[in-house]
Amino acid sequence: MKIAIIGTGNVGSSLARGLKKSSHEIVLGARNITDSATQDLAANTGAKLASPTEAAKSAELVVLALPWNVAEAAVKALGDLSGKIVIDCMNPLGMIDGVLGLLLGHTTSGGETVAAWLPGARVVKTLNQVGAEMMADNAGMPHRPVMFMAGDDAQAKAIVATVLTDLGFEPLDAGDMTKSRLLEPFGMVWINQALLRGKGRTWAFAAVERK
Ligand SMILES: NC(=O)c1ccc[n+]([C@@H]2O[C@H](COP(=O)([O-])OP(=O)(O)OC[C@H]3O[C@@H](n4cnc5c(N)ncnc54)[C@H](OP(=O)(O)O)[C@@H]3O)[C@@H](O)[C@H]2O)c1
Repeated sequence: MKIAIIGTGNVGSSLARGLKKSSHEIVLGARNITDSATQDLAANTGAKLASPTEAAKSAELVVLALPWNVAEAAVKALGDLSGKIVIDCMNPLGMIDGVLGLLLGHTTSGGETVAAWLPGARVVKTLNQVGAEMMADNAGMPHRPVMFMAGDDAQAKAIVATVLTDLGFEPLDAGDMTKSRLLEPFGMVWINQALLRGKGRTWAFAAVERK
């Protein structure tokens, strides 16, 4: 499948690395395709480079890996994504009374907000629940890390599940897009442990059960 990754920062670059050995054709949507780090990333992963708009236009699946504070303008600038599968891995983070937190929750979510910006797109909320390092490489862990998905299009979630599997995750369907209201605070659990409680960044959640 042709996958556009919009944003080549921590998440975008990690996803490109994580999908390097897959059969997917990756195009990185970057603002500055002549930047040396971006060129190195493309060379090291075999990904193509294009502007964000051209990358999104060319792909069947578009991953949004952008900071929340620029997301609305940057996502709307991608143009009409109707019919395309869109993975929203962004957490709607901001400072609240001097503390990092979610700017949306309870009655809406980042996932629902992104879906409203992209009418007709098949938006799936996922890849927001662990640090980027785990997206690049989670091989050799005692359990396959779990990655929840939320979205209103069952077929889109089934396709996204195959990409999550390619990235080494166990995909689990959390339900419709309103379940982003659960997945975004769940991402905060990881952030709290990793960044504020000293657990570091090389761990992920697993779903273990008695058979
Ligand atoms: N970091 C994590 O471990 C992690 C894990 C899960 C989810 N997330 C979520 O993933 C998203 C991305 O996080 P990140 O850590 O990858 O951020 P990041 O390292 O800051 O990277 C952001 C990328 O977005 C690009 N960008 C910024 N403004 C843009 C615009 N107007 N148009 C096009 N591209 C633009 C930047 O391009 P330039 O290089 O040109 O500035 C950069 O490549 C966030 O919403 C975050 O909440 C992060």
